Amino acid sequence: MTIKTSASLLASNLAQLALEISRCKKSGVDWVHFDVMDGVFVDQITYGSPVLKTVRASTDMFLDVHLMVEDPTKQIALFADAGADLITIHVESFCNIGEVLKDIRKRGKKVALAVKPKTPIEAVYPYLHLCDMVLVMTVEPGYGGQAFMPETVSKIASLRKTADTLGMKELDIQVDGGISEKTAEAVKKAGANVLVAGTSLFKSENMKETNDALKNAV
Ligand code: DX5
Ligand code: ZN
Repeated sequence: MTIKTSASLLASNLAQLALEISRCKKSGVDWVHFDVMDGVFVDQITYGSPVLKTVRASTDMFLDVHLMVEDPTKQIALFADAGADLITIHVESFCNIGEVLKDIRKRGKKVALAVKPKTPIEAVYPYLHLCDMVLVMTVEPGYGGQAFMPETVSKIASLRKTADTLGMKELDIQVDGGISEKTAEAVKKAGANVLVAGTSLFKSENMKETNDALKNAV
């Protein structure tokens, strides 16, 4: 599968968002990852759909929205209208998961379901047929810059095997948290093909070189 990178804006200079996004594009980054935190599902509060709307106006890059919110139900219409290309909800959130995933699809957006490190990967299986992508969190959601959790690698491998068995060879598997040149190899070998990277991309000396290294490391 083609390996894609998605730059997590959390690690960018938020006072210069449009410039940071154009830096991603010039460096060959594939997607922009937009982490939405509500202060309930996780401690921090980041940004919401009005900010996404300004991001949309500043770029034609693919916008990957990761909702870390207690109840995403009402957010789908807001983020879809604001210009998201893909919306991810958490399987641990409090909503009718199947109905919310269908709502994302109905609005013409790519659909994804995320799972926290301590939640068994089997939790997403009842919803796989509704998804274009599964996000396997490789750190506890809530903060950028955390250390990669190696125990999540076996979950990626189980998911890839299950998807293949079900004939879902095109399922994207995204990983998020602590992804760097060092950790990319293990997650890709296990079957991940969309790599979210915040710190490693934005804090690198040369974003293009780091992006190439993330994509090529095997
Ligand atoms: C964590 C977020 C991640 C985070 C990744 O809750 O979902 O997207 O920004 O940041 P790094 O790559 O720095 O671990
Ligand atoms: Zn994220």
